[in-house]
Amino acid sequence: MVAMRTEEEIAQIRHAGHILARVFAKLKNKIICGISTQELDDYIKSLVEEHGGLCAFLGYRAYPANSCISLNEEVVHGIPSLKKLLKVGDIVSVDIGVKFGSWFADAAVSYPVGNIETSRKKLIDVTKKALDLGIREAYAGNFLSNISYSIQRYAESFGFSVVRDLAGHGIGKNIHEEPEIPNYGRLDCGITLKKGMVLAIEPMVNMGGWEVEVLPDGWTVVTKDRLPSAHFEHTIAITDNGPEILTRL
Ligand code: MF3
Ligand code: CO
Repeated sequence: MVAMRTEEEIAQIRHAGHILARVFAKLKNKIICGISTQELDDYIKSLVEEHGGLCAFLGYRAYPANSCISLNEEVVHGIPSLKKLLKVGDIVSVDIGVKFGSWFADAAVSYPVGNIETSRKKLIDVTKKALDLGIREAYAGNFLSNISYSIQRYAESFGFSVVRDLAGHGIGKNIHEEPEIPNYGRLDCGITLKKGMVLAIEPMVNMGGWEVEVLPDGWTVVTKDRLPSAHFEHTIAITDNGPEILTRL
């Protein structure tokens, strides 16, 4: 069952979302050559807590860090480490969940580190735009599958592929709730969207094939062909006026 949130509940999730927006705005300046993903994770924790939130991923299904930080061929769920240093040309994908009171918001951004190859820059830009196009479909009365369809169509039109094994999700009282929101699908099928639904939409786009695997650490999802991947995510609410992005100021 997909939960419908009241205005008051959405206000709580918006508060969590605005903490995320502030954290990402500050984090941008720390995306520099030589910094470790562990340092970024520590910084994220301090920023989230400064704003009165908690990092929601820590301890979720025994996940061992505050955030997920994934480099290049790592798609998602990269575990921050002192041994992983950003270098020029990398794509670094940062995914953060915030709990405020009893409510959750979730967002992710892929950043280029310094000057990167044109094709990698394109991958980042296309993934971001795919998220925007997916969000545009998130209005009451539309089919959920049209979010999926738009994301897939746009990403594949550049010769990229969308990850099939992971998906966006409902969010609110828990990080992951119904419905599941795949990043591929057909037009006009499945459930329809309603006012009050709160969704985390999160395209993961690969430069090569869509297949992924999990590393022996049990978390890090990497592309099978080891080509790079990018990931953007926003938490949105469906309102009378269309989608409201809760993780943007
Ligand atoms: N970031 C994932 C999502 O957006 C959830 C990560 S949970 C963790 O849905 F345990 F891996 F952190
Ligand atoms: Co998510």
